[in-house]
Amino acid sequence: TRKIIIDTDPGQDDAVAILLALASPELEILGITCVAGNVPLDLTARNARIVCELAGRTEIKVFAGCDKPMERALVTAEYVHGKTGLDGISLPLPKMKLQEQHAVDFIIETLRNEPPGTVTLCPLGPLTNIATAFNQAPDIVERVDEIVLMGGGFFEGGNVTPAAEFNIYVDPQAADIVFKSGISIVVMPLDVTHKVLTTRARIEAFRNLGTPVGHAVASWTDFFERFDMAKYGADGAPLHDPCVIAYLIEPDLFTGRHINVAIETQSELTMGMTVADWWRVSPRKPNAMFMGDVDAKGFYTLLTERLARL
Ligand code: BDR
Ligand code: CA
Repeated sequence: TRKIIIDTDPGQDDAVAILLALASPELEILGITCVAGNVPLDLTARNARIVCELAGRTEIKVFAGCDKPMERALVTAEYVHGKTGLDGISLPLPKMKLQEQHAVDFIIETLRNEPPGTVTLCPLGPLTNIATAFNQAPDIVERVDEIVLMGGGFFEGGNVTPAAEFNIYVDPQAADIVFKSGISIVVMPLDVTHKVLTTRARIEAFRNLGTPVGHAVASWTDFFERFDMAKYGADGAPLHDPCVIAYLIEPDLFTGRHINVAIETQSELTMGMTVADWWRVSPRKPNAMFMGDVDAKGFYTLLTERLARL
């Protein structure tokens, strides 16, 4: 099994990613660390626990982390996720407790305690917690096995500005630190997540599972990212964050290219842009596996089959 820390800002698609991880015996979730992003921190920390309880996994440790980006003011996305961050279905408030430890301290402690090269970080939101941990404890950087993250847009452009994808845009300084860390990074950008569309038939397949989890996932995907038909067509909306977890389980679903990715942190026009050096015209070494394509059918087969186990 692969040990992972899921760093997240749920978010309906974060919620589906968490459920996919919970359903997958290949993965051992050491903890779920929450960050401000789609909605403020109190809500993301609450939503992560709602999701664990929905799956009956109240033993999972959930931590609250940074409540705002490193330098910039927090930008949220209620227009995508609704007021609660998990709009689409109303679920009971969590009974399970939030851990008292700060998410950043948990990340640092875990990387120091686990054998080097055995922990994979899975960021599904702004990179604030991760970069803050690296700043506070530079010794942990070389202990990370790999980072598999959702963020960025390359040929696809941005979804919050013409140039930037939300997770990178919210905390470009943090993203810059992570992409310069030297850790091997796998990037699931909009180029991939816009190819795994939640069509009617796929949502029905979730609902037909006939379980509370299937019902919740159908309700979320019915709500989430459906606000803009012109953008994604009439039958489907993207499903971002589960791509990260699907990659850990079935990497062959994805194909990409090893390149250098740098983050724009200065220009207001292109703030948070993921700049790819496709043709090795800079002295910067490749630091990231950019994923550009996905077997969407295989992805939904995996996701639906796993969710059926919960
Ligand atoms: C990313 O931003 C959030 O709205 C989603 O949860 C996803 O992580 C997509 O740009
Ligand atoms: Ca997210």
